[in-house]
Amino acid sequence: MNSLYQTTDTFWKKKYNSPNVESIVFRLQSKILKHEYNLPKKNSKLIDFGCGEGSSSNFFAEQGYNTIGLDISKISIQTAKKRYKKNNKNLKFEVCKFIPSDQKIYGFKNNVDVIFALQSLYYLGKKDFYELLEIFNRSLKKNGLIFATFKTPNQWDYFNNSKKTADPWLRHVKFKNSRININLNQFFVKNQDDMINRMRIFKPIHIGRYTMKLTNYESEGEHLTFFGKKR
Ligand SMILES: C[S@@+](CC[C@H](N)C(=O)[O-])C[C@H]1O[C@@H](n2cnc3c(N)ncnc32)[C@H](O)[C@@H]1O
Repeated sequence: MNSLYQTTDTFWKKKYNSPNVESIVFRLQSKILKHEYNLPKKNSKLIDFGCGEGSSSNFFAEQGYNTIGLDISKISIQTAKKRYKKNNKNLKFEVCKFIPSDQKIYGFKNNVDVIFALQSLYYLGKKDFYELLEIFNRSLKKNGLIFATFKTPNQWDYFNNSKKTADPWLRHVKFKNSRININLNQFFVKNQDDMINRMRIFKPIHIGRYTMKLTNYESEGEHLTFFGKKR
C-alpha cells in the first residue's frame, strides 16, 4: 500500500469508539430522507461507508433500510457485529480494503438508494477519492442519493497541526492533547464551493454544516455536509 495511506490505515485499524448514533444521522433520516424522499421504501438499500463501530448502520437498519456497513478496521467491524448483528437480518457488516480499486464492488450494483459517509471520505488521495466516487455512482440506482461530510481548516487543531505531504491533496495531521493522539493523512475542503466541486459527479441538493465544541483547547469539530443525487 502507498506509504501515504499506511499511517491512516494503522491509525484507524486500532479502533474508533463511537457507541451511539450522532444527532445529524437521525435528523438526516427524519428531515430529509423520510420527509423529502419517503425513504426507506420496501427493500431500500443503504451503504454506510466507513461505518466504524456501526451505530449509524444499525440505526438505518432499524428504520427499515437493507444496510451494509463497511470499514477498513477489523476490530471496529467485529464490535459492530457483536453489538448489532443479532438485532436485524437486514444489517450486514464487512471489512473493506483501504484503496477503492482493491475492492471489487462495495456489495451492490446499480441498486443502492443511499450512500452514507459520515466523516470517512477524506482519507484518500485525489485519484482514489475520484475512483471511489465513480464506484459509488455506479452502485447507486437512478436518482440514488449520497450524504457525505468534510472537514475544513476551521478545525484549526487539526489544520494548524498539519503539514503538506508528497501528495498535494493530502496533509499529514499529527498532534496530541489530553484526550486524543492524532497521526494520519487527510484532506480538508476550503469551503462549500470546494466541496461541491470535489463532489461534482453528483448533483448537489442540500449543503449544510454541523459543529460541536466540548473543550476550550479543541476547535469546533466543524464538518460541511453534502447531500446530493446521481446525475
Ligand atoms: C471518524 S471515523 C467515523 C466512523 C463512523 N462513520 C462514525 O461517524 O461513527 C472514520 C472511519 O472511516 C474509516 N475509514 C477511513 N478510511 C477508510 C477507507 N479508505 N475505506 C473505508 N473506511 C475507511 C475508519 O476506519 C473509521 O472507522
